[in-house]
Amino acid sequence: MSIARARGQVDVSNFGLCFGQNTAVSDISLYVEPGEFVSLIGPSGCGKSTVLNAVAGFLTPTTGQVLVDNEPVRGPSADRGMVFQQYSLFPWKTVRQNVEFGLKMQGMGKSERLATARTLLSVAGLHAFENHYPEQLSGGMKQRVGIIRALATGPRVLLLDEPFGALDAQTRMIMQGLLLDLWEGLKISVLFVTHDIDEAIYLSDRIYVVTAAPGRIKAELTVPLPRPRDSGMSETPEFLTLRSRLHELIREESLRAMGNEVEAGSGRGVGRDLADAIGAARH
Ligand SMILES: Nc1ncnc2c1ncn2[C@@H]1O[C@H](COP(=O)(O)OP(=O)(O)O)[C@@H](O)[C@H]1O
Ligand SMILES: [Mg+2]
Repeated sequence: MSIARARGQVDVSNFGLCFGQNTAVSDISLYVEPGEFVSLIGPSGCGKSTVLNAVAGFLTPTTGQVLVDNEPVRGPSADRGMVFQQYSLFPWKTVRQNVEFGLKMQGMGKSERLATARTLLSVAGLHAFENHYPEQLSGGMKQRVGIIRALATGPRVLLLDEPFGALDAQTRMIMQGLLLDLWEGLKISVLFVTHDIDEAIYLSDRIYVVTAAPGRIKAELTVPLPRPRDSGMSETPEFLTLRSRLHELIREESLRAMGNEVEAGSGRGVGRDLADAIGAARH
């Protein structure tokens, strides 16, 4: 195995993060081996984005540590590409300028930048849109640009935060296939956040289930499906067994998360609060 291939190892150990008084994540340990595809799944607000942002270097751990290739993460770096749920393209830049941005920051010359951006855009089927602005693109296209932009600088680790959450089912499947193709071709490590069980199974080598806030790891499951994957696998006994196990784990945590929210409110139950509010609005 070459040295280049052996890189991209993520080690999060006993990671905790507080926002003021609020403990977002209490104690999370997880790892991604070089070239592995790992997903984090769990109820809303359990700290999935917080973990990803700490690996990206946007947040500093309150406790524990985050290592990438045995080095503590000290800030954002081109080694770690990030794809956000909200389309985060620069609206005033064209598609190609968006892809070129990170390369420019790395000091790459103009003609090389142009050639690299064009190659990546054609891999993603976007060559005809290089001079469009983000607002002129569909959601799926914007997210393809987001992925290409994150990959342009040659990261060892790709971090994706519910990247397909806003897409329709058909586009989502196409994007999942594209992501797997890119991952297999580039042999980089992926840490992928989703709340979609089927998506996590279809894409991942391993899946971590995170508890309701403050997040901890509740379970770690290996996906026993061969690669390349195809959509027909969702009918296999292996897929169905894993799906029902994940449903069970996540249902418990979603109920706990809802229970916490109800407690944090009036304690009378969300349904009654809503009924009161609707009643008041009608008067
Ligand atoms: N910038 C912030 N300031 C204060 N609290 C935050 C901030 N970001 C996230 N949180 C809180 O941390 C917890 C975990 O958030 P997040 O990581 O976004 O969860 P998830 O991605 O699993 O939905 C939530 O309670 C959220 O309200
Ligand atoms: Mg999130």
